[in-house]
Amino acid sequence: MGALPQTRPLTGGTADAGTLGPDDFARIAGLVRDAAGLSLSPIKRPMVESRLRKQARALGLPDLRSFLARLDAGPDPEDLRIVVGALTTNITSFYREPHHFEVLRQTILPTLAAGRDRSAPVRFWSAGCSDGMEPYTLAAELDIAWSEAAATRARILATDIDAEMIAAARAGRYDAGRVKGMPPDRRAALLETEQADHVTVRSALRRRVIFNVHNLLEPWPMRHPFDVVFCRNVVIYFDDSLRLSLWPRFAAAIRPGGWLFLGHSERIVGPMLGCFRQAGTTLYQRTDTPAPGAAPNGGGGPDVPA
Ligand SMILES: C[S@@+](CC[C@H](N)C(=O)[O-])C[C@H]1O[C@@H](n2cnc3c(N)ncnc32)[C@H](O)[C@@H]1O
Repeated sequence: MGALPQTRPLTGGTADAGTLGPDDFARIAGLVRDAAGLSLSPIKRPMVESRLRKQARALGLPDLRSFLARLDAGPDPEDLRIVVGALTTNITSFYREPHHFEVLRQTILPTLAAGRDRSAPVRFWSAGCSDGMEPYTLAAELDIAWSEAAATRARILATDIDAEMIAAARAGRYDAGRVKGMPPDRRAALLETEQADHVTVRSALRRRVIFNVHNLLEPWPMRHPFDVVFCRNVVIYFDDSLRLSLWPRFAAAIRPGGWLFLGHSERIVGPMLGCFRQAGTTLYQRTDTPAPGAAPNGGGGPDVPA
């Protein structure tokens, strides 16, 4: 995340110590938009107040206003990380939007296993992976669909802006309540241990996924194009112009014939639709059309398995 922009102090305005005035809210909204791309409409003000109050308490500060003053006096990257982490939505689950994993199992994984060079790596990216349930579902499906030899060709990168989510994802340990009601075959595919209060993901799957902190607003790390990208329920929190600027980067990051999964309320619109063909519900396949002016890499960023 970059440095905080210098704008009007947060401590001005008419709000009391536990609330945000309109100026304060606009400043916070500006911070998270610049840092993470999140678009916060004024209707979210009560949510922002309540989450930041909680963070202020956790930091041992007397009230929200003290936290605002501290942000204003910053910029402290750790405080900014806390604000972004508090205001992002991390909801996820194993087999979320299960129809995507059906297409993956029935069509995409068999095609990838059979196609091209049988020794070439097959690259997957879960962008905005939260605490890891999406890439672990993908890894479990690979295990089911592919032979051991084919599965060793898979390279699964999973990234998120939130370091706490990535740490949780690497641990692969979840509250038992989060798998409640999951069918036995899926539990068996995903889980190694099931205790009364928590479950752990199979170590074979944990070894298969490489987790990294990465902000989609920053240069993208890939040296090679991906075969399959999941970026689901992430761009929904961005504004239209940022979303439009991301489609060419996805087009450049996915090889022709590769696949892009989006979340249930996300769509590619605008000129970049020419670089993709709609291949299912919120599923797009990359066409041969070159991505105009896209530079996904730009150097830097976390490493991706070659
Ligand atoms: C609602 S979760 C989606 C998780 C998963 N993809 C799914 O659909 O179940 C959205 C995730 O996007 C991440 N995120 C938000 N802004 C981001 C950014 N600029 N770069 C990378 N990740 C971001 C959040 O931290 C959060 O974990």
